[in-house]
Parts: sequence; structure tokens; C-alpha cells
Amino acid sequence: MAPVKEMESKQPKSMEKRTLQVSNPHLEQMKDDILYHFDLGTNTHDFQDLFGDVKFVCVGGSPSRMKAFAQYITGELNMGDPTADIPNICAGTDRYAMYKVGPVLSISHGMGIPSISIMLHELIKLLYHSKCCDVTIIRIGTSGGIGIEPGSVVITSQSVNPCFEPQFEQIVLGKTVIRSTKLDAELAQELVQCSQEINEFNTVIGNTMCTLDFYEGQARLDGAICSYTEEEKMQYLRAAYEAGIRNIEMESSVFAAMCNISGLRAAVVCVTLLNRLEGDQISSSHDVLVEYQQRPQKLVGYFIKKHLTKV
Ligand code: URA
Repeated sequence: MAPVKEMESKQPKSMEKRTLQVSNPHLEQMKDDILYHFDLGTNTHDFQDLFGDVKFVCVGGSPSRMKAFAQYITGELNMGDPTADIPNICAGTDRYAMYKVGPVLSISHGMGIPSISIMLHELIKLLYHSKCCDVTIIRIGTSGGIGIEPGSVVITSQSVNPCFEPQFEQIVLGKTVIRSTKLDAELAQELVQCSQEINEFNTVIGNTMCTLDFYEGQARLDGAICSYTEEEKMQYLRAAYEAGIRNIEMESSVFAAMCNISGLRAAVVCVTLLNRLEGDQISSSHDVLVEYQQRPQKLVGYFIKKHLTKV
């Protein structure tokens, strides 16, 4: 069966209000919507009251990192003591963790496409039920770099699949549907500008390859299964570099596709933990890795602060 290419959502001109689109006619008929993996529901929670003011959503793999980001943003926005504990809105489940600091939501999404996809379905419905508008969503994460120094931050211009194509394939009712992985170019440029203003770490804009796993999918030689030679691995990674790819991770394609369909202004900002042209194992010390992981948080924190203090 030939794959079906889905239309891209129409983006508003920059001054227009961005309302969220849920691309599902069945939702209107539902009397109650249970967001099972968040342990939230429209009959048990007043979404508009809880989340109606949300303007920025930051998502990242690990629950502890997203809690740390919420605490960091508390300090940056002068909204309280950044060392104080902060309640997890999704405390009734251990699937995802969610924190709210004023208009900023910080949510964990776990590892890989299936995990972030489930979280995004429920997050997009949460924003829709809350009648949020003009929401910016940014994935902050870690990645493997290609041809750039470890610790560099990559702002994704395009998310591409392991064949270097800017698309995400979703199987729906047994048919392959192809979705665009286009991200917001203006937002990416704004983030580059913020990074120049901070001027603390190397930042590049480039393509990000999204894979289905960490080992074979990312051409590693150190997994439990490997059917290629070192030379073949290097050939593939060099070809990726030639295609403008500067980092590899496991969530950006479905993130870009789902945000695109829903009319969300979206960006991906990931730090690189190693240079994959030089090895496969992440061998930097714990302290170095902790500092690296703070870089996307610093950049996005600066961006949010700049926006919220502008008006
Ligand atoms: N995350 C990935 O997906 N790959 C890496 O190499 C490092 C972090």
C-alpha cells in the first residue's frame, strides 16, 4: 500500500492569535475526557482554571530534570524560592511528571517516540480543554553530536528520519501516513539570538536525526546486537554530517509532526553529550554531564524570561 502524505497545518501570520487545533472530530462528543497517563480528567479537574494561563511548555525525557527546570524557572522569574520543593501535578501516576510555574509547564516525556507521542496526545488535549492560545512548546534534551564538540547545544532546523528525510511515518489503520517534521524557523532563530546573548557555550543550528533506538538505530558498535563494521558506521555518520545533521536523538520527529498538526509553535534544543565521530560511549564525568544538561535549560529559561519581561 502506498504511503499517504498528510497536508501541513496552515500557520497563522506572526501577529495573528494562535489557537490550538485538535485534529479529532470525536473529541467534541465526549462528555468526559480522561487523560489517563496524567491522572487528570475534564470531569474531575477544572482545566481552564488550572492551565488556562499556560504560554510556555517545556518537555524533556527525565522527571528529575523537568523538576529541576521548574525550580530553575521559579528563580529566573522571581516566583519563589528555587530550592523549595514543587508539587508534581501528575503525582497520581508514575508515567509522567508535570510541574507548573506561572505560565510555564514543565513535563517529562520518557524515552523514545512511543513515550513522547502518548504524552503529547494528552498534553495537546489538556491545552485544548484549557482554551490556551499562543503557546510555545520546546523540547529540551540530550543527544549525540556529529562533528561538533561535546557540550555544544543544537537548535534543530529540521528533524529528519534515519534516511535523512524530513518526515515522520505513522501507521494508522494499517496504512502508512507521512507527516511533515517542519519546526518554527522564526522561533529557532530567536533561540540562536538568545544563545548569542548568553554567550556561555557553543550553539549551532542544524538538522537533528531522530531514531528508534540508542544502539543500532544510531550506528553504535557497543550494543548487544551489531551487524555492521566500523567502516560502515563511519560512512553512515559522515553521510549524516554531509546532510546537515549535527545531532541524533529519539523524540524530535514525532514531536515536530504532532506540534505541526496542532498549530503549536515548536522548537527542539538539545545538548550533545559526545561527538559520535570519535566514539560511542558516554564517558564524561557525572559533574560534566550534569553541567551539559543545564545548558538547554539555561537557554530556554533565558528565552522565556525575555518574553515574559518584554510586555
Ligand atoms: N541521546 C541519544 O539519543 N543519543 C546519544 O548519543 C546521547 C543521548
